[in-house]
Amino acid sequence: MNICVTGGAGFIGSHLVDALINEGHKVMVIDNLSTGCRDFVNSKADFVEMDIRDKELAAKMAEFKPEYVFHEAAQTMVPESMKDPAFDCDVNLLGLINVLNACRSVGVKKIIMPSSAAVYGDLDTLPLTETMAGQPSSFYGLTKLTTESYLRIYHEAFGLPYICFRYANVYGPRQGNGGEGGVISIFCERLQAHKDISIFGDGEQTRDFVYVDDVVAANMAALHKPDLVGVINVSTERGTSLNKLVAQFKKIVDHEFNVHYEEARQGDIKHSLLSTKRMINELGLSATVKLDKGLTTTYEYFHNKK
Ligand SMILES: NC(=O)c1ccc[n+]([C@@H]2O[C@H](COP(=O)([O-])OP(=O)(O)OC[C@H]3O[C@@H](n4cnc5c(N)ncnc54)[C@H](O)[C@@H]3O)[C@@H](O)[C@H]2O)c1
Repeated sequence: MNICVTGGAGFIGSHLVDALINEGHKVMVIDNLSTGCRDFVNSKADFVEMDIRDKELAAKMAEFKPEYVFHEAAQTMVPESMKDPAFDCDVNLLGLINVLNACRSVGVKKIIMPSSAAVYGDLDTLPLTETMAGQPSSFYGLTKLTTESYLRIYHEAFGLPYICFRYANVYGPRQGNGGEGGVISIFCERLQAHKDISIFGDGEQTRDFVYVDDVVAANMAALHKPDLVGVINVSTERGTSLNKLVAQFKKIVDHEFNVHYEEARQGDIKHSLLSTKRMINELGLSATVKLDKGLTTTYEYFHNKK
């Protein structure tokens, strides 16, 4: 099939492109390289350097005629969304509308794209399920929550099917250190450079860390579920504290390092844990990569790239 991946030069998008090409699909990547990297793009993919807000997007898609679109391109940084809500809205909502209109105009069968755990905000009823009403605490979380409603209305009003994944904290090789799931890539960067690491708060805050291959597997499964529409968490339903993360790194890293505990950041969520029930029931899938294995592979990647 012909498949378009926006953000295919980024962390998650580039792994997804690799998997699609391995499955024999023809892939067109659209990316403006703002945070992505040209070298991450599989050499068998067509690469178009373009902004998702570009008026020519529909014409570009019409040339390629994708049956499916994976829309991974986004402004992904929570602090950036607080500094510049207009930019976050411009890329994540006006950019989304441009992508959705392009999908409609070329008759795409389905759009598959991420939302985020950020839509839940600081709810304390865990695990977080897709039916819970989110109270995002950042503009990034708000544009992701609004994304879900745009998808629903484009489906209801214009017949464009969608699957929207609420990714938990994704980690793995090629991750940048600016995005929302970046604590593992930040630790890896610093540790491979023999630097100490810092934790905000007491380190007992927990996150649901999901390895990038499991996220790609969810996207690939979605491709083979033509009738499935809606919002689905992609997670492990396991909470890992930052102190536990440090303990794992102590086993992996071949030198001593120190951890500095700094004042907790205002607005940081204490615990994030996403239910996997719908992922298991609807996609027939659960995350398979254990934290120790995923961390080892990720650290080796950062270590070898220096
Ligand atoms: N990494 C996580 O833990 C996580 C968690 C939840 C949701 N997500 C979502 O997953 C998606 C992929 O995130 P990622 O971590 O791979 O980030 P990333 O920054 O590595 O990838 C984003 C890609 O989009 C491109 N891009 C950004 N703005 C663009 C624009 N205006 N036009 C064209 N291309 C543009 C960037 O160059 C980059 O290649 C995003 O939608 C993000 O919000 C990520």
